[in-house]
Amino acid sequence: MTDAIETHDLWRTFESRKGFFFNELVHTEALRGIDLQVDRGEIFGLLGPNGAGKTTLTKILSTLLLPTRGSARVLGLDVATQAHALRPRIGLVLGGERGLYNRISARENLRYFADLFGIPVERRDRRIREVLDWVGLTDAGDRRVEEFSRGMKQKLHLARGILHEPELLFLDEPTIGLDPKSARETRKLIRGLVANGVTIFLTTHYMFEAEELCQRIAVLTRGRIVARDTVAGLSRLVGGDRTIEVEGYGFEDAEVGAVKRLPGVSHVVSEEFGPRLRLTLRVRTPELTWETVKATLPGHPELALRERRTSLEDIYLDLVEEEA
Ligand SMILES: Nc1ncnc2c1ncn2[C@@H]1O[C@H](COP(=O)(O)OP(=O)(O)OP(=O)(O)O)[C@@H](O)[C@H]1O
Ligand SMILES: [Mg+2]
Repeated sequence: MTDAIETHDLWRTFESRKGFFFNELVHTEALRGIDLQVDRGEIFGLLGPNGAGKTTLTKILSTLLLPTRGSARVLGLDVATQAHALRPRIGLVLGGERGLYNRISARENLRYFADLFGIPVERRDRRIREVLDWVGLTDAGDRRVEEFSRGMKQKLHLARGILHEPELLFLDEPTIGLDPKSARETRKLIRGLVANGVTIFLTTHYMFEAEELCQRIAVLTRGRIVARDTVAGLSRLVGGDRTIEVEGYGFEDAEVGAVKRLPGVSHVVSEEFGPRLRLTLRVRTPELTWETVKATLPGHPELALRERRTSLEDIYLDLVEEEA
């Protein structure tokens, strides 16, 4: 079977105008040579700061936008030349408020999109009942969408995205703006889809969400993929699954240098919190003890140490910081 997604050296540039008279032509390279491979049946996560190119990539893969250069195949079909055959087999859910008709009911919205997807009338109403039930909107189905809360709208977006039973679903920030309970319900729905064999391509700004849902993750910054691996693999890449935080007052540069040179320490980030300084150490070996760290910083009785497992958020910040 072919991969769910496969891209080769994918580029996308935008030309736009800015300035008071719109007389300044701006050239943005939103994607700069993306090589990506996603297996069928996995949840693949795409992370990256604002403006990194996540939505642009999602739009290209879901045939809303053409690449400037390079190629992308989704479910074995070329997104540029075989979009027509591809569209019925994929679904797209963009986070946020847009894309629904507010003046009509949820059910009427779904009927409209079902017709657009070409779902036969004899199957249509049963399928609409199924998806409304699946997202828990059966009772609200006949209410106008303008009366819906943000969480309800997002669930309706999801229902619309799977109406035509796509094999692959693109989710661009599916839990943005949702309260923790709604976000958790949404993640549960996503897991349910995967259990039914649907492949998911997901973008998110929430690290724990990616950690909880995704088998593999790619980090995109300024149009380039800077890392791609499992969560465990990424933590090895960044250098260690132990994170030790050391807080104290006014460390000298030489002291920070000595901490950086400790055996097993792969990466040190220093941050100021008012008069206090925090050093965050990524540690590769189990042998490095707190005592060794303390001995490297003599004359600091105020020293406070804490240890935790390196989180995806730590890894992500290391990667994005290295790139910047
Ligand atoms: N239609 C457009 N015209 C001009 N520039 C665009 C257009 N769409 C996107 N861009 C630019 O391309 C870059 C990538 O944007 P994109 O929306 O893909 O980022 P993103 O990773 O989805 O960001 P966010 O996390 O904020 O959603 C940005 O610099 C953006 O300004
Ligand atoms: Mg985006």
